[in-house]
Amino acid sequence: MNLENKVGAVTGASSGIGRAIALDMASKKMKLLLAARRPSLLQEVSNEVTRRGGEATVLVADVSTKEGAESVVKEAGERFGSLDVLVNNAGVGFFGPLEEATDAAIEKVIATNLMAPIYSTRAAIPLMKGRHGAIVNISSLSAFAPQPWLSLYSTTKAALRGFSTSMQLELQPLGIRVIGVYPGYIRTDFEKAEVTTDAGRKTGRREEMGKPGVVLDATNVSKTVVKALENDAEGEVFIGASGRVLALVATHLSPLVKRYWRNRYRRVLGSAG
Ligand SMILES: NC(=O)c1ccc[n+]([C@@H]2O[C@H](COP(=O)([O-])OP(=O)(O)OC[C@H]3O[C@@H](n4cnc5c(N)ncnc54)[C@H](OP(=O)(O)O)[C@@H]3O)[C@@H](O)[C@H]2O)c1
Repeated sequence: MNLENKVGAVTGASSGIGRAIALDMASKKMKLLLAARRPSLLQEVSNEVTRRGGEATVLVADVSTKEGAESVVKEAGERFGSLDVLVNNAGVGFFGPLEEATDAAIEKVIATNLMAPIYSTRAAIPLMKGRHGAIVNISSLSAFAPQPWLSLYSTTKAALRGFSTSMQLELQPLGIRVIGVYPGYIRTDFEKAEVTTDAGRKTGRREEMGKPGVVLDATNVSKTVVKALENDAEGEVFIGASGRVLALVATHLSPLVKRYWRNRYRRVLGSAG
């Protein structure tokens, strides 16, 4: 797909991976709807989009509500008249034992990471039919390798993987491609924004848990996404060879991966006293 003049909507465009995807799409001269909750950061991204030769409009929206998630698609349609690429990227982490998770935390993580892509995808179908564009869902390698203390997060990302695969099959005949993206650890502010329980704060800090695999930059993800769009890719997309290898290991050597995490957590919790 030639991206020039195509219309894209990116959720979570104010920082990290969403920001990087928006900027790389801008370099391809796309018209973009940038959605997130922090208006000043969105405005900065919008200015940079324009500087790169793209066109941007900003939408302050909380996608953890049905109305917020649907508004992303509605606004793109109203402001640009169509939609070719929807990037469901907004997400929030959760770190700590499930026993300590409040109702509000459970609802927030599921609403943001899973319900939002479902509502925005449903809203996008009539607008995207027959345009041969794509819906991009930013999942995570944790969909392949769920971890303790990341239960809610891993669960939403695994469910998003299932949703992406179903939608790929369902929407292909309608001329809409669906791409599930599975990044490993990426340098962003993600961990600063995640919901952390008391035990999560006191013990088991993320750094001590270690980050298996290579830690990459948000631009590694954005360049992969833009290339996948240009190449009319669909299905599962990984970031570099290391991402694909980790997904294969997690799928085929699952007992070993589980043992790794079990030992890692036991050690960290033990040393935390
Ligand atoms: N960093 C990693 O290692 C990693 C690995 C795999 C997958 N991912 C996934 O990549 C995606 C982006 O994360 P990131 O690493 O770029 O972290 P980030 O910098 O914290 O970005 C998260 C984005 O989501 C937006 N967001 C969060 N809750 C929202 C809500 N209720 N409504 C609207 N926007 C919301 C945030 O914007 P506002 O705060 O302005 O609303 C922000 O732009 C997430 O889905 C994450 O799960 C990250």
